[in-house]
Amino acid sequence: MTGPLGKDLLGLDELSAEQIRLILDTAVPFKEISERQIKKVPTLRGMTIVNLFFEASTRTRVSFEFAEKRLSADTVNVASSGSSVAKGETLVDTARNLEAMRIDMVVIRHPASGAARFLAERIDSNVINAGDGTHEHPTQGLLDLLTLRDHMGDLTGRRVCIVGDVLHSRVARSNIHGLQKLGAEVAVCGPRSLLPNAVAEMGVQVFDRIEAAIEWAEALNILRLQLERMQAGYIPSLREYNRVFGVTSARLEKAPRDVLILHPGPMNRGVEIDSDVADGPHSVILHQVTNGVAVRMAVLYLLAGGRPDLADAAKGGRA
Ligand code: CP
Repeated sequence: MTGPLGKDLLGLDELSAEQIRLILDTAVPFKEISERQIKKVPTLRGMTIVNLFFEASTRTRVSFEFAEKRLSADTVNVASSGSSVAKGETLVDTARNLEAMRIDMVVIRHPASGAARFLAERIDSNVINAGDGTHEHPTQGLLDLLTLRDHMGDLTGRRVCIVGDVLHSRVARSNIHGLQKLGAEVAVCGPRSLLPNAVAEMGVQVFDRIEAAIEWAEALNILRLQLERMQAGYIPSLREYNRVFGVTSARLEKAPRDVLILHPGPMNRGVEIDSDVADGPHSVILHQVTNGVAVRMAVLYLLAGGRPDLADAAKGGRA
C-alpha cells in the first residue's frame, strides 16, 4: 500500500520539504490521543506491523509500539537475540518469512548503514527506518523538528547547532537534512576527530569551540558520545571532553539569549550534557520523547495510505 510518502520511510534526505511538513502537520492532531484516558483509535485496525530491532533501543522501540497500538494495529516485536538471526538466518530471509505470515509493515533498527533500504528493495511491505548504523534515524529527526517547531514556530532562518559526536550520528544526518529543507541555519560543533571530513560540504557552519556555538545558536541538539562505535583515540578522555565541549549551565549563562536544549537520548550525564542543563528550564528533552509517539503515528498513518486531510477525523473514534 502506498500513500503520500511513497512505500517506505528510509531517510529525510529523500523527502521533500512538503513531505516533511505533511508529516509534522499530520502529527499535531495525533498528539491529543496520547492525552486521553483511553489512548486508542481504530485507524489501523487489521494492519500487522513487525518491529525488527537488531540493536539496543528504549525510546524508539517503545515509541513505535505505543504508536502502533494506539492506532489499533497488531504488532509483533522481533529482536536478534532469541530469534533465528542468532542461528545465522539472513535479514532478508527473516523478513520474507514474516511476510509469508501476511504482514503489512516492518519497522527496522539495524547496526548496518543501508540495512533499511536493502530490506525495502526486497520485500513488498512498507519499511520504516528506525535507525540504520551511522546513516539516518528519520523519525528522530522528525520528532526533533516537531519539538523545535512547537517552541520556535516556523524554522526558516532559525539557528540550530548540533553538538558532539556528529561522525557516528545518524540523528545528526537526519537533523541536518530536515532542518535545511525547512529553511533553518544549521551548525555543528565538536572535536574535529568527531566531525565527518566532508562536514563543510553538508552546507553547515562548523564551530570548534562550544562557547562560540552557544553564542550563535537559538537551539542546541546535543548528541551522545557513541562510545560503542568508537575504536579508540577519538577523544583523550570523557572528563576532557566534558571540560572542553560539555554543555554546562555556566556556559549557557553567558549566552546572549535563552537557548533551547534538545538531546535524542540516551544521555551520558556529566559528559556531553550536565544534569542541571538536562533537567533545566530550557530543556525540551522529554517533550521530544512525547512528540515521538505522535510523529510515529503520523508516519504509520501516511505510509498506510491515510489521507492527510482526514488525520483529524482519524483520531476521532475510539477502538
Ligand atoms: N533516540 C533514540 O534512538 O533512542 P533509543 O536508542 O533508546 O531508541
